[in-house]
Amino acid sequence: MIGVFDSGLGGLTVLRHFLVDYPQYDYIYLGDNANVPYGNKSPEIIYNYSQRAVDFLYSKGCKLIIIACNSASAQALRRLQQEYLPKKYPDLKVLGVVRPIAEKIAKNKNIKKIGIIGTKATINSDVYREEILQLRSDIKIFQIATPLLVPLIEEAWSKKPESKIILKKYLRELKMKQVQSLVLACTHYPFLLKEIKRIMGKRCLVFDPGKVVSDSLGDYLRRHKELDLKISKKGQYVFYVTDNITGFSELGKFFLGRELWPLEKACLKD
Ligand code: DGL
Repeated sequence: MIGVFDSGLGGLTVLRHFLVDYPQYDYIYLGDNANVPYGNKSPEIIYNYSQRAVDFLYSKGCKLIIIACNSASAQALRRLQQEYLPKKYPDLKVLGVVRPIAEKIAKNKNIKKIGIIGTKATINSDVYREEILQLRSDIKIFQIATPLLVPLIEEAWSKKPESKIILKKYLRELKMKQVQSLVLACTHYPFLLKEIKRIMGKRCLVFDPGKVVSDSLGDYLRRHKELDLKISKKGQYVFYVTDNITGFSELGKFFLGRELWPLEKACLKD
């Protein structure tokens, strides 16, 4: 099984690509809706939540876990990979969303100036900048935390004029800097893709990060055949949440583009 973990609903925008691109695998999705949002929490708390999620997904038989949440990828992934996994689960692989996106940017040699928008946790971590500069030191990076966007999207306000005004205000500086690409470093922002493209103009490359992560997963599995062989492939999936099931399933359907079923309550150990 492949585990997909997010603070709540957002990771479904990544899983939806996996289900289309690699429907043969079995997936477990875990949304930590008891603790959402992660985006304004401290690194220590985000790490603790992520560690519990890894324990849960491993106990369910996952051989590979994708942390679909940008805030958790930015604040917890490195520590999990470097400290926790080697000691506790040496055979388990956990990947995040930052590296695939950094690689996509770095590959495009025409890009010299980019913008990044995300939650406070993601932007404050500076992990996107570090990963991109590691691959290409000639790129100028401008980052802006855009914390109002997640609640607007979850309240289905993304098409309202008020949201467009807020978005425009957030993007003004990046537009003035004439960035050539804008990274949507948050699971929710693909819902604003059209409006963001309209504001930033045709010369600015804005892409759906879920698709990039999905392409990178395919590439990873092709390069790690021994791991691929261990992952069950019956085309089944199951969803877990840490709190309220009802609200999650309604909004989740909109995020995933299909019914969230079976959906169960997870008991995560402290
Ligand atoms: N999933 C989070 C992210 O991608 C957004 C929601 C939250 O703040 O937990 O950063």
